Amino acid sequence: MRTIINEMKLRLPAISVNESVCRSVISAFLAELDPTVEELGDVRLAVSEAVTNCIVHAYRDIPSGECGNIYISVRLYNTREVSIEISDNGCGIENVEEAMKPMFTTGDGTERCGMGFLVMESFTDALNVKSKRGKGTTVLMRKFLKSSAEGEK
Ligand SMILES: Nc1ncnc2c1ncn2[C@@H]1O[C@H](COP(=O)(O)OP(=O)(O)OP(=O)(O)O)[C@@H](O)[C@H]1O
Ligand SMILES: [Mg+2]
Repeated sequence: MRTIINEMKLRLPAISVNESVCRSVISAFLAELDPTVEELGDVRLAVSEAVTNCIVHAYRDIPSGECGNIYISVRLYNTREVSIEISDNGCGIENVEEAMKPMFTTGDGTERCGMGFLVMESFTDALNVKSKRGKGTTVLMRKFLKSSAEGEK
C-alpha cells in the first residue's frame, strides 16, 4: 500500500531569490530517499521552471510594491514516489492547453521562450496543471525514483 513517509509545506514570497531557495530546500528534503544525481538534477530543473513561472507570470498584474506568494507542498511515499505541488493565487492562465505548447509565451520574446512546461514535462514522470483566471495556478509534478539497486546500475 502506498503511504506518505514525509511531507513538507512551504510558503514564500514570489521574488526571484526564492527560485534557488525552493530548489535547495526541495533537494535537501528529497535526500532521505537517496536519489541519483540525475534524478535530483531533473527535479531541480522542473522545480525551477514552476517557481519561475509563479515569480514571472502569476503576479504580473499586481501593483508594484506588493508581492504574492508561492505555495509548495512536497510528499515522499514509501514507494519512492515524490509529489511536488507548486501553486500561486495570481492571475491564472487563460488557456492551459495552449500555454503548455512548446514556444508559447506571453512574455517578451527576449527573456522567455515558452519552454518551461516542456521542461517540467520532460524531467518528471507526470505533470498536471490546473488554473483558474483570477484565482491562480497549481502545478503538480510526480517523479518515481529508482530503487537503490537500480540506481547503482
Ligand atoms: N503560474 C502562472 N501564472 C500565470 N501564467 C502562467 C503561469 N505559468 C505559466 N503561465 C503562462 O504560460 C505560458 C507558458 O509558460 P512556460 O513556462 O512554458 O513559458 P515561459 O514562462 O513563457 O517561458 P520560459 O519558461 O521558457 O522562460 C507563460 O508565458 C504564461 O503566459
Ligand atoms: Mg516559464
